[in-house]
Amino acid sequence: MSQKKLPGPGLWFLLRNGRQLSADPLAAFELLAQYGDMVLLALGPRRMVFINHPDLVREVMVTKAAQFQKSKLLKRVFEDSVGNNVFTGDGDFWKRQRHLMQPAFHTRRIGAYANIMVSHARQLVDGWRDGQTLSVSREMMHLTMGIVTKALFDADLRDDSAGAAFSRLFEVVGHRIARQNSVRLPYWLPTRENRAVRQSVAAIDRVLQPIIEERRQSGRDTGDLLSMLVMASEGGGMSDDQLRNEVMTLFGAGYETTANTLTWTFYLLSQHPEVEAKLLDEIDRVLPTGRPVTLDDLARLPYTEMVIKEAMRCYPTSVAISRDAVEDVEIGGYVIPRGTMVVLSQWTLHHDPRFCDEPARFRPERFSVENEANIDRYAYLPFGVGPRICLGNAFAMMEARLALATILQHYRLTPAPGYIMHPDFRFTLRPSGGLPMVARRRKIENSSSSP
Ligand code: HEM
Repeated sequence: MSQKKLPGPGLWFLLRNGRQLSADPLAAFELLAQYGDMVLLALGPRRMVFINHPDLVREVMVTKAAQFQKSKLLKRVFEDSVGNNVFTGDGDFWKRQRHLMQPAFHTRRIGAYANIMVSHARQLVDGWRDGQTLSVSREMMHLTMGIVTKALFDADLRDDSAGAAFSRLFEVVGHRIARQNSVRLPYWLPTRENRAVRQSVAAIDRVLQPIIEERRQSGRDTGDLLSMLVMASEGGGMSDDQLRNEVMTLFGAGYETTANTLTWTFYLLSQHPEVEAKLLDEIDRVLPTGRPVTLDDLARLPYTEMVIKEAMRCYPTSVAISRDAVEDVEIGGYVIPRGTMVVLSQWTLHHDPRFCDEPARFRPERFSVENEANIDRYAYLPFGVGPRICLGNAFAMMEARLALATILQHYRLTPAPGYIMHPDFRFTLRPSGGLPMVARRRKIENSSSSP
């Protein structure tokens, strides 16, 4: 590959363990990390380099970002559902799309979304009963889907059919990624998996197309993200297909990730009563009468933010990021040939004791103002890093904090008897089985007024 030879598991090892490793991507990343900070995985002509050190992450994602693009693998696994879009695209196309959408995510603008986030969270808990067993994953998806469609598309959507369709799509995408080295059948073949993708896409289209159509027909300019996209398409800056791809991408990227983050947070709180008690104490002190949380309250809820950041460290919903080298490029003293896929994993970086003290412990204090300065930003990257950092990161952080505070004002969630959690990778990481938990109404007297 270059002057020096990269370490990595041999062909024989891969043939023997390939099936098991592709069934468990987290185990695969952990195994690769044992070989070193830069590991070569070669199967026939396909080459992948796994990097597991913040200095290498910085090189690939920031200083030499121009020599990389989104991986062909990522583009391929999404090509028959959301096509080319701001998430998978590159070059001038990506720049144009990101530039077009950016205003909807400016800090000033997302402040206006706070009311939507709080009122949706309040409506969610208003529908719960004391002692009810809930699928936390499903409830959080329902919540974040409603928020993202209201905030970005000014539409009311809490349709479970779209959520189920996205879940199925991500499951197939997860399988496709895990099987990257096996024989690839064309997506037009009517295999069970390809049919599942087509059905999921049709179900999502049935929900999203009327929203796009309504905005087009009404000519309403609400100044939201959908208006920006529709105006760009009408001005000739984007085809109808492109508009649909972007709406679908933002919808998918915008709800599932935040829902998983909240779900993991509830799981971790249920396993760490001392953290939960401290968090409830903060929320009750800042919002003593159970009044609705506001944007201004967030500055007085630092522990709430620390808990979410630590939950994203322990269980990052995005577990890996991939790029392809567009030319021969030197990384960590090795020449990576053009076309090689480079992969980093938030899962291994966030749990590496070299970059994080006692990584197995859930300890939100590591994100206090004084401690956070010690965290290497290239070893903690739930939202990615560099020019392709998550467009919705500020939106998601605000949403997660407001939703968590609102829910915990009203309910505690305790583990359902007998539940055993396994992390479940379906393109994003979530707890297995939808995370069943029992809702316990809190004694605190809440004001009756809805926000
Ligand atoms: C906790 C919630 C979220 C997490 C953990 C998350 C994670 C990520 C990560 C890791 C990336 C970078 C991928 C890469 O570099 O290859 C990304 C990109 C992106 N995310 Fe998020 N995301 C979240 C919420 C959101 C929300 C709420 C939206 C929009 C409403 C959103 C929209 C996007 C978009 C459009 C990109 C592509 C940006 C680009 O390539 O320029 N995300 N996200």
